[in-house]
Amino acid sequence: MPEDHYARSGPRWALGAELVYGPIAAELVATCPHPLAGRTVLDAGAGTGAAGAALCGAGARTLAVDLSHAMLAWQAATRPPCAVADVRALPLRSGSVDDCVAAFVLNHLTDPGAGFAELTRVTRPGGAVLAAVFGTDSSSAARDRIDAAASAAGWQVPAWYRELKAAALPLLGTAAQMAAAAAAAGLVSVHAEERAVDVGIAEPGALVRYRLGHPAFADWLDAIGPRRAAGVTAAAERAVGDTMEPYRPTVVFLRARRAGASYPQPAGPAGSEPDLS
Ligand SMILES: C[S@@+](CC[C@H](N)C(=O)[O-])C[C@H]1O[C@@H](n2cnc3c(N)ncnc32)[C@H](O)[C@@H]1O
Repeated sequence: MPEDHYARSGPRWALGAELVYGPIAAELVATCPHPLAGRTVLDAGAGTGAAGAALCGAGARTLAVDLSHAMLAWQAATRPPCAVADVRALPLRSGSVDDCVAAFVLNHLTDPGAGFAELTRVTRPGGAVLAAVFGTDSSSAARDRIDAAASAAGWQVPAWYRELKAAALPLLGTAAQMAAAAAAAGLVSVHAEERAVDVGIAEPGALVRYRLGHPAFADWLDAIGPRRAAGVTAAAERAVGDTMEPYRPTVVFLRARRAGASYPQPAGPAGSEPDLS
């Protein structure tokens, strides 16, 4: 199993990073070309459940997988059934879910084709595969000022995060790259688009909570302790300044489907779940 870089991030992700990832996940789920009510949908790379919440809200029976036990453990009692698994080796039978959602997980892979192949395999013919990643050109001066404030206080970019940014994030960071990867996995009706998403953040406190919720900061924040972490938060908020632009990251959205029936019906009788063992 690959290393779990999110092992110390459950609460900070759910209470911080999800301020941005939550609205994007909701937008991703809303792009599904058919109603989701009653369908069995896999939330791959589920994290603390941003997409799962949107799926459940749409009436889908949701299953979650993620590499990180800690992320799945967040409010596990009230979340859909889940399993620790690599998106490149899913513990599901072929064609056993109606649709798949992959929010910000394929961009963690240096071999995104392997993730696409598994999502395609487990999706029933005709079912949808929805994915989102940040666009390569998604930049934010305000977010950079937060990183600079953390660096000034002693934060160093972890090697794994530097490698992720260099080797994985650029692979799907444009609509053309995303569409090509989906088509290479045999998906059809491929539609990929890049657009800025207004996630509803227009004040520094929320932007800092989002940014410092990223696992790249987790070890360091834990090491410096709550008092110094509060000081870093205050310094980062001052660095962003009072007049920040609304945060509008560029997101690449994919919707596609597995070849087969064009008006897919739910895979099993109500109440039946694919085996996640
Ligand atoms: C950026 S977070 C996104 C979480 C959630 N989907 C969201 O939108 O808030 C990426 C998640 O993917 C998980 N992940 C990374 N690589 C993975 C892999 N190979 N297989 C399954 N999950 C993976 C991480 O543990 C983390 O929870």
